Amino acid sequence: MLFLFQLPEDILYLILSYLDCKALNSLSQVCKKIYYFTSRDAVWRRIAKECINTGINRQGTDLFSRIPLKDRVKVSQNWRRGKCRRDAVLKWKNNLLPWIQLDSGVLYLSQAADIRVYQLRADGGGLKRKPVAVFSGHQEDVCRFVLTDTHLVSAGGDGKIILHQRRSSFSVEFSAHNQEVNCIDSKGGIIVSGSRDRTARVWSLSSNRLGECLHTIPTLDRVWSVAISPSQSSFVTGTACCGHVAPLRIWDLESCQQLLCLGSDFRRGAGVLDMVFESPSTLLSCGYDTYIRYWDLRVSSGKCVMEWEEPHDSALYCVQSDGNHMIASGSSYYGVVRLWDKRQSHCLQTFSLSSPTSSPVYCLRFNTTHLFAALASALYALDFKAPELRGRK
Ligand SMILES: *[C@@H]1O[C@H](CO)[C@@H](O)[C@H](O)[C@H]1NC(C)=O
Repeated sequence: MLFLFQLPEDILYLILSYLDCKALNSLSQVCKKIYYFTSRDAVWRRIAKECINTGINRQGTDLFSRIPLKDRVKVSQNWRRGKCRRDAVLKWKNNLLPWIQLDSGVLYLSQAADIRVYQLRADGGGLKRKPVAVFSGHQEDVCRFVLTDTHLVSAGGDGKIILHQRRSSFSVEFSAHNQEVNCIDSKGGIIVSGSRDRTARVWSLSSNRLGECLHTIPTLDRVWSVAISPSQSSFVTGTACCGHVAPLRIWDLESCQQLLCLGSDFRRGAGVLDMVFESPSTLLSCGYDTYIRYWDLRVSSGKCVMEWEEPHDSALYCVQSDGNHMIASGSSYYGVVRLWDKRQSHCLQTFSLSSPTSSPVYCLRFNTTHLFAALASALYALDFKAPELRGRK
């Protein structure tokens, strides 16, 4: 052993990086010096890439580099086993269709016509009940909203889009659609919106062209979801699958020409409710067809390459990914949240948050330690960090 630790450090790390979790944990208990060596990220990177939700994406990029990988691997095992503390961190009286976004240290939650910002507790135990900011202006409920570095862009049942400056009270609103704006995304100075009025529209975020519609795309169907590609060259519309034969269409962001049309074998009404890009050429979708689907969007080969079936045959309202192996989905009944490992076909864990009453999971977001799920009358937090230390009260 002594000889081993006289090796040059980079060679030592290389050797240690071939060990598995169990061996590393045993080795770390030998002495202080070895504990130090076996705690370094370099030793855990290979393992962390194979585990679910450690913050390392498929390309190997580390999204949470300030937290030691060793700790994240440990928490990952709680995700896999479904070990967490579960709390309703916020409740309200009337049934709503809330939407959420997480941003460093705060959670944005739409409740009826307002979007409130709640501070997350530093100890991870939930959130502070009094909002630190409120963004308002819609005459009807907010349907969805998105955060950019500078703006909060909200879409309302009143047909309006409102651009709120995040760090001031300044906002600009404009009439965007003839009916509800069901969905919205924004990237690289562009907004894409989709509506019940059967159009998707492209807008500029630049101050001299605000509210000017750059393109209107007739979709023949209500638009339930939109997502701009990470490469910012195209966007996807998820539609109702009633008037048009396929619910997923990819459009060139500049010309708004259709590049690809997917899901033409879907049954009528199998609309797409939520989508998330994993890379410029891969997309996850979910909706009324009760499947999570993984799409290859390359124009030459566009097709569904993997699918996971909701075991209770309920619609899926929302989907999120860790960018690597884990998917989380929210169902239409009993507040069912499921965790999936992409490498297996059956789901890994199921949490029924609203049972015995039923509510859809309208939106969910997670980071490496917490999952937040927004239901009709409550916001739930699942804390995977230290479930054994903090028992349920
Ligand atoms: C994840 O969210 C919780 C929410 O309370 C927060 O305490 C924690 O710091 C977040 N973790 C990361 C890695 O951002």
